Amino acid sequence: MLIFNKKADLTAHLTAVRSQKTKIGFVPTMGALHQGHLSLIKESTKHNAITVVSIFVNPTQFNNAEDLTNYPRTLERDVEKISTLSDEIVIYAPAVEDIYEGDTKSTAFDYDGLEFQMEGAHRPGHFDGVGTIVKKLFEIVTPTNAYFGEKDFQQLQIIKKMTEKHKLPVTIHGCPIHREPNGLAMSSRNERLSEEARNEAALIYKTLKAAKIKFGKQTAKEVIAFVTKEFEKSPNFQLEYFEIADEATLLPCKRKSKTGKYRGFIAVFINNIRLIDNISLN
Ligand code: PAJ
Repeated sequence: MLIFNKKADLTAHLTAVRSQKTKIGFVPTMGALHQGHLSLIKESTKHNAITVVSIFVNPTQFNNAEDLTNYPRTLERDVEKISTLSDEIVIYAPAVEDIYEGDTKSTAFDYDGLEFQMEGAHRPGHFDGVGTIVKKLFEIVTPTNAYFGEKDFQQLQIIKKMTEKHKLPVTIHGCPIHREPNGLAMSSRNERLSEEARNEAALIYKTLKAAKIKFGKQTAKEVIAFVTKEFEKSPNFQLEYFEIADEATLLPCKRKSKTGKYRGFIAVFINNIRLIDNISLN
């Protein structure tokens, strides 16, 4: 396993790899790695001769300065976890300067409207920051395949859109959500939850599963009312949104049709920590 902090060193290494016509897999992360991240890395190592994992807490995608400051940074532990997976992994863990070169700003992206829904509506500028960093990383790593989790389903759709619109020569793969035994979707932010809050947060997936059963028999409006009520019962939670949307357009839908593909999307605060999750409703 190799670790690079400078893009010049990484690209020099990858130039040699690329000349052997080797498939490069890529898993971008912000570190504080858990089994969800590791499942993406394992998937990449199965299908590519080498896998690059980036560990970079990207400042331009945080719309809240406190969230950026509090974001867990555990590089040593992350490296240890990755080292157990395969020798054919290259870690890229740059400083902000190496990526942004004194201009820590995002550029504006047009994702054909995907950016105006849910996370985009509640976190202004977030997806410009995500597009900016992922495009920069794709240009540095030049991967054949890149792996993203369905945990951030809107992000996955947005990256697919960006890749298509900018004609980037990389194939994007979506990977399933990894959960704790109690159903809580794994997330780096879970590290900031107390044990009690982690237990209570099982309500999120439990409610999503109940919503899945209801949708079809009930309209979206009725299911949203049910989810809202479930969270009103628990004072430690503040529901930010629950939406039922079409998987491709991410536009809200009113009722289930036979041909559509739908997902329920949720963002909820527990003790001021913001968690997101989603579930297929088909
Ligand atoms: P981060 O939150 O570290 O997540 C990195 C990747 O791991 C993302 O593709 C995310 O969807 C996936 N992931 C996170 N939790 C998961 C889980 N429980 N199951 C499966 N996959 C999971 O997403 C980002 O970083 C950043 O926005 C990034 C793309 C790196 C750009 O900065």
